[in-house]
Amino acid sequence: MEIKRVGVVGVGQMGAGIVEVCARAGYEVVAREVNESLLAAGLDRINASLDKAVARGRLTDEARRDIAARIHGTTALADLANVDLVIEAVPEQRALKVELFAALDAACAPQTLLATNTSSLSVTALAAATQRQHRVLGLHFFNPAPVMPLVEIVQTLMTSVETLSTARAFVASLGKTAVLSPDTPGFIVNRLLIPYLLDAVRLLQDGLATREDIDTAVKLGLNHPMGPLTLMDLIGLDTCLAIAESMYDEYREARFAPPPLLRRMVLAGRLGRKVGHGFYDYPDGSA
Ligand code: 3HC
Repeated sequence: MEIKRVGVVGVGQMGAGIVEVCARAGYEVVAREVNESLLAAGLDRINASLDKAVARGRLTDEARRDIAARIHGTTALADLANVDLVIEAVPEQRALKVELFAALDAACAPQTLLATNTSSLSVTALAAATQRQHRVLGLHFFNPAPVMPLVEIVQTLMTSVETLSTARAFVASLGKTAVLSPDTPGFIVNRLLIPYLLDAVRLLQDGLATREDIDTAVKLGLNHPMGPLTLMDLIGLDTCLAIAESMYDEYREARFAPPPLLRRMVLAGRLGRKVGHGFYDYPDGSA
């Protein structure tokens, strides 16, 4: 099966990046949000990213116009009826995603592949909400999606060989590298990343090091592009908490348990760059 038209559901931080990546690779993209104001905010985010690429000399004005013309915003799920692949990127809430997958199953043509960008929720649970379990998979992008070269392809017990080979070809067409993971909580990357990020919060919470020293230690001692607290601000503390909770729920291992400081920061609305403050302050609102 060849993918020509892609639908992206949810045009927040990750969804907007995925729309941009697909449109840049030449796909027609239907971008769906639940209301006009969220849709406008998502499209603004994409346009700002394209403008930045033009300003940096990475994209010509003409290419930018062509990319923008391939992106079609909508609030109607029915507009996804004829896409070949849907990538879901709504918030990390199991009930919301299960309900959405049932609705997508009803709205989309029978041959449409349904993918989730979930970080840690069960892809199998989403597949089970549909009548096309062999055509459901995970396509896990990394933040910022236009920059990060990896996509985890997540296979459930029901995902067909044909679905996987279509997914591999699709990921390659985006210029990204795929790794294959079974549907296990956190897949490959978050299984490694989340305990490390939570340990950084514990170091800070227990007063063992300052936020600057934790981040500087990792940046300069391990040559990571950013330290763990800066990275959590980029990912979003609410997203980090949701991932940790769902991994702890499945594994019941202390290393996945969210530390109290993380929970309190989320309760306090310190969600990271997207709201202007997290472990650090971002006076311009975002990065
Ligand atoms: N959107 C689009 N492009 C962006 C961007 C964004 N949000 N942020 C940066 N870029 C682009 C810049 O435009 C620039 O492009 P250019 O080289 O073509 O001009 C390039 O990326 C480098 O950006 P900068 O020079 O501004 O900054 P850095 O060199 O510091 O790179 C970074 C920024 C790419 C974010 C780098 O710091 C990095 O790789 N950080 C780690 C990110 C990471 O680990 N992500 C994974 C998170 S885990 C995850 O997503 C899984 C989930 O389930 C939790």
